[in-house]
Amino acid sequence: MSTSQQIVRAANLLRNGEVVVFPTETVYGLGAEISQSLAIRKIFEIKGRPTNHPLITHFAEIADLEHWADKIPAAAWLMAEHFWPGPLTLILPKSKYVPLSVTGGQNTVGLRIPRHPIALALLNELGRHKALAAPSANRFGHTSPTSARHVTDDLGNEISMILDGGCCDVGLESTIVSCIDKTVTILRPGGISINLIEGLLKQKVLSQAHNNSIQTPGSLSAHYAPITPLEIQPSGESLWSRAKLLHQQGIRTAIMSWTTLPIFLHMHTKHPHETDPYNILMPNDPVAYGKKLYATMRLLDQKGFDLILAETPPNNLDWLAVTDRLKRASFSTSPTNTKKFS
Ligand code: TXA
Ligand code: MG
Repeated sequence: MSTSQQIVRAANLLRNGEVVVFPTETVYGLGAEISQSLAIRKIFEIKGRPTNHPLITHFAEIADLEHWADKIPAAAWLMAEHFWPGPLTLILPKSKYVPLSVTGGQNTVGLRIPRHPIALALLNELGRHKALAAPSANRFGHTSPTSARHVTDDLGNEISMILDGGCCDVGLESTIVSCIDKTVTILRPGGISINLIEGLLKQKVLSQAHNNSIQTPGSLSAHYAPITPLEIQPSGESLWSRAKLLHQQGIRTAIMSWTTLPIFLHMHTKHPHETDPYNILMPNDPVAYGKKLYATMRLLDQKGFDLILAETPPNNLDWLAVTDRLKRASFSTSPTNTKKFS
């Protein structure tokens, strides 16, 4: 079946109340047409997600923003026009056309026009004033899928159809910006950097990205996590000395560094199933790192390591989304929680 035939089929399934997985530039989404209440319920069941956690509503035409949201401030229009289609979700007062089942009972809605051509084609096929509610197509709490294979690994046979759009370009979820009550607040750092948003709006924006509020389950501490415990090391040096120690203790450790391995500590990467550390050199650029992050965590999960050691990223705003996801991925191994390795 050609891609366009698959898109027609997917749209028909959605109209009939089925859920369909589709690619976006950020991560794969598990979509339901927002007026199909049974399909919306299915999303929560398949993901194992509590029903008070709101879903993002995806649509295709910027002119429809007023259909889905009320009281849209100038800053929201500016961001929408500048960054859509793209990895930005705006939180706005919802219109009467957005069901409460999609917003987790809240009067606000998360809206986004994705830029992946298959997502846009699917939304256009559904037509004007139609939208797809879609969370990331993974089990609740796990890392988001950035390829169709990741989706089947997580959700297996529970999905009627997966549109395969290859590997996601951005690889991290959208930046969520709340435009409620005359303030602009970042709720989740993501595919659009805060620097770009502040540059566009010519103002500093607030950030609640590290606040644990129920409105954004993406802000729950233990979220976006691999199965393997992950520990962050504050520098390249501490990473390598920790790796050496763990290696001596026989703990099978994988390493995600972004600075190169010091010569004197050169440890081999040949056989990941041996007790030697397995070193993945991540890109030293935040965009390229972000694109690779989830795929790397999933790969390391498959290799069955005892621990992943990650080097802390540079401390600046461009790295905020990557740092945020690493912190959440490391939550269950952080010293304040259960520390499994000492
Ligand atoms: O890149 C993305 O945003 C991907 C793709 C598929 O679009 N979607 C995604 O969805 O990451 P999900 O459900 O995994 O995360 C959406 C986040 C959640 O943290 C949710 O709480 C927040 O968006 N959200 C949605 N509607 C909201 C609202 N009305 N108020 C506050 N947060 C909201
Ligand atoms: Mg998610």
